Amino acid sequence: MKYHLITFGCQMNKADSGRIATVLENSGYKPASVIDEADLIVVNMCSVRQSAVDRVYGKIKYFTKLKTKNPKLKTVLTGCILKKDKRKLAEKFDFILNINDLAKWPAILKIGPSFQKDNYLKIKLKYQPPLSAFVPIMRGCNNFCSYCVVPYTRGREVSRPVEEIICEVKNLVKCGVKEIWLLGQNVNSYNAIPFPRLLKRINDIEGNFWVRFTSSHPKDFSDSLIDIMKEGEKITEYLNLPVQSGDDEILKKMNRPYTIAQYKNLVKKIRKKIPDIALSTDIIVGFPGETKKQFENTVNLFKEIKFDMAYIAKYSPRPGTAAAKLKDNVPQKEKDRREKVLTEILKKTALENNKKYIGKTVEILMMNADTGKTRTNKTVKVESKKNLLGRFVKVKIISALPWGLKGKYEK
Ligand code: SAH
Ligand code: SF4
Ligand code: F3S
Repeated sequence: MKYHLITFGCQMNKADSGRIATVLENSGYKPASVIDEADLIVVNMCSVRQSAVDRVYGKIKYFTKLKTKNPKLKTVLTGCILKKDKRKLAEKFDFILNINDLAKWPAILKIGPSFQKDNYLKIKLKYQPPLSAFVPIMRGCNNFCSYCVVPYTRGREVSRPVEEIICEVKNLVKCGVKEIWLLGQNVNSYNAIPFPRLLKRINDIEGNFWVRFTSSHPKDFSDSLIDIMKEGEKITEYLNLPVQSGDDEILKKMNRPYTIAQYKNLVKKIRKKIPDIALSTDIIVGFPGETKKQFENTVNLFKEIKFDMAYIAKYSPRPGTAAAKLKDNVPQKEKDRREKVLTEILKKTALENNKKYIGKTVEILMMNADTGKTRTNKTVKVESKKNLLGRFVKVKIISALPWGLKGKYEK
């Protein structure tokens, strides 16, 4: 029996998909090399923007064809689904399952040990330990930014117990994982213990590995978090700090409880303690009522902060959210233009930042035969005849592009 897993959305969904795959493989399923060979298709959905939802509808069309070829084919939908879509999608999928019930999936789908006694014991998972692993530390969100579906699809914030996280990280490190991503819709509102203390505990785990975390809400970014980022040698100099808009009025309408002055001040504090930090952000252009002047404030913020990376999204009204009641009055063309303007600035600032690496020797983690990543999460193409995969190596940076660097292996 073979499964095919289609994942949309953020790293949280990718992390969940890893768990889905494990459960299916423990139930006797193997990954199908192509979707046409699958007996079970799982779609892990995202609803953050309409375009993500549309992509799911696009996929389903093909399922009907596959079902005529393989009448035993089962289809499952999971992930972040809005109520409104759930009703429509229920007709298209055999099952809609909640990711929080993952442990019960085999029973619901009638797969796994009790149904496949014969081959179950024969299955030994031969996992190539990945170099990079996601560890969800909390789920859900209490912030209700006015545009966002996440509090509706994921529910309220729940933090995982400390010891469970520590144990998972220890195991991953033992298995050879070299880069740990701590995940949460809002990692720094982790509350089983203060988040900086959790980071300290993880930093103290023995082994050679890097720690990253995402996403952070500016409102919860404490001084002690900056301190542990500076002191913890395993905690890398990379930070995603979503600002969403460069205009105070728009921020207010977005229900983001900080001002641009506060955001800039926070960035200043972080850069003072961690000068070589790479900063990325999330931005929404064309929020309801966003004037050209208000957009210019975002332009100015981009020019001033000089981000290394930005996830620029065009506002998409989401049913059920507070902002959906406002008129989506920035024309699509204007949203396209604003996105382009920011991308152009980003390209320049990212290149400017990357050029500072030229001539320097930096430690990178080799993710592929010829590509590594810096502590600051920048991609480095490496010239080397040796197989360096999975190793931390020193390279000399010889050239820079906006989205990456080129380096030479020194030894
Ligand atoms: N928890 C994170 C982000 C989660 S959603 C945070 O608070 O920053 C990922 C990104 O999708 C958001 O940062 C936002 O930029 C974007 N996004 C969310 N809702 C959106 C919408 N309705 N339209 C366009 N982009 C949206
Ligand atoms: Fe959405 Fe805001 Fe929560 Fe981020 S903090 S997940 S943008 S509601
Ligand atoms: Fe999408 Fe859900 Fe992530 S809506 S962005 S998959 S939390």
